[in-house]
Amino acid sequence: MTANHSLDTVNPTAATPRSMPQPAEPDPRMPRLAASPGFREFMQRGWGDADRAPLVPAGAPEAAARHRERLSAAFAGRTLAVAAGRAPMRVNDNAHEFRADSDFLWLAGAAVEDAVLVLEAAGSRHDATLYLPAPFRPGDEGFFADPLRGELWVGPMPGLQEYAEALGVRTRSIDDLDLPADALIGGTVPLDGPASSFAGRPRSGELARVLAELRMIKDEWELAELRAAVDATVEGFAETALEIPRAVRAGGERWMQGTFDRHARTVGAGVGYTSIVGSGAHAPILHWVRAEGDIDPEALLLLDLGVERRSGFTADVTRTLPASGSFGAAQREVHDLVEASHRAGLAAVGPGRDWADFHTACMEVLARGLDDWGLLPVSVDEALSPGGQQHRRYIVCGVGHHLGIDVHDCSASSHAAYQGATMRPGMALTVEPGLYFHAFDETVPPELRGVGVRLEDDLVVTAEGSEVLSVALPIDADGIERWMAGLR
Ligand code: GLY
Ligand code: MN
Ligand code: MN
Repeated sequence: MTANHSLDTVNPTAATPRSMPQPAEPDPRMPRLAASPGFREFMQRGWGDADRAPLVPAGAPEAAARHRERLSAAFAGRTLAVAAGRAPMRVNDNAHEFRADSDFLWLAGAAVEDAVLVLEAAGSRHDATLYLPAPFRPGDEGFFADPLRGELWVGPMPGLQEYAEALGVRTRSIDDLDLPADALIGGTVPLDGPASSFAGRPRSGELARVLAELRMIKDEWELAELRAAVDATVEGFAETALEIPRAVRAGGERWMQGTFDRHARTVGAGVGYTSIVGSGAHAPILHWVRAEGDIDPEALLLLDLGVERRSGFTADVTRTLPASGSFGAAQREVHDLVEASHRAGLAAVGPGRDWADFHTACMEVLARGLDDWGLLPVSVDEALSPGGQQHRRYIVCGVGHHLGIDVHDCSASSHAAYQGATMRPGMALTVEPGLYFHAFDETVPPELRGVGVRLEDDLVVTAEGSEVLSVALPIDADGIERWMAGLR
């Protein structure tokens, strides 16, 4: 080491290749260290082994290998590159937690930041190689000088060897990545970082579509992951509902949201999407993620929650609870109608059914119920006709979607493969009708203003029909009241 090495230069004596840029500016917490030859010399030696084994979900490498085979068969002769992405910065030098691109997770079996999985065409099949940045290890200046990647800052980092062993794929330094001009590019390609060499190339819509359509049919391992995510979410509902009295006293929606988020982070990787906690007038707001309100003890409380596992698989479950433990008369009426719609939707899920069937079934029940309450300005038939749709004023969102590694899974699929398709065993989806009467909606009577109800379950299409994975949470008002009472 010589004194003229500064923190923004690369140590030329280091044995390990590296690809991450050094920080442009030295970290302000170590400016004097940067200039200290004694410190630099001492930092070169005396480091023993660390546990650098990556956290890889059991069964994920084998599942990923099967997924690569399926993708390979769809793209004979084409080289494919799927990038994992990198954690976006949150404030100047602080990054968000990394969440890998879903297609990458499906194909690689683990979240490897800044990595690119390449399936190189080899005749009619492909050779898989994971290109990743070599971490900063003892002997590298970045080991102690890079606050984003240095092991002394962020903890031991798996490298090429550890990932090769854990995932069962060949690994190479991303510095060696040299994609052919006609490679199809997928995943999340960050504009900076080691994969940025091809950031300017267009992503292949065809690759994204094929991956989405392949991901639509879940295998046994994927279904087990989904089941575990739903089970963990059901537990989280109980933990969160138990906090209602505390949240009413102080903390409100944030306390409830934080309770579920802590649970999700403890038993899984975190939440699959921002937890929605809406009390009273917030319940009808579809994406009420702000959680800024109090919990009104007399109002309904809508909870839309999902635990995401390390594999990326997430649940997506909604229940609407009376904060007091008992539904009021108007609240119960709305809940009953949503329940009837939900049951009609669940009954319309099965192999060979049109994807649109459960949507039609849910909407028909809602429209009839709204008509019974005198809320439709036209007949039910006219409302249900393509040119009508007046009932949708009270439900502007869809009533379900594919579910998997993305909460809204397979969204890059073609219309024919998604909305226009028939259901097949192995598909996973949500059914989630609701009624949303906004507090400022003058078309509804005062007792309905600020009432929002959604019921959302996670299902798998089976050979015989369907299985509701979230069945442990009741969907009827009496059952919900009993479930709440049983928590105490
Ligand atoms: N939580 C998002 C959704 O229900 O689709
Ligand atoms: Mn959903
Ligand atoms: Mn949801």
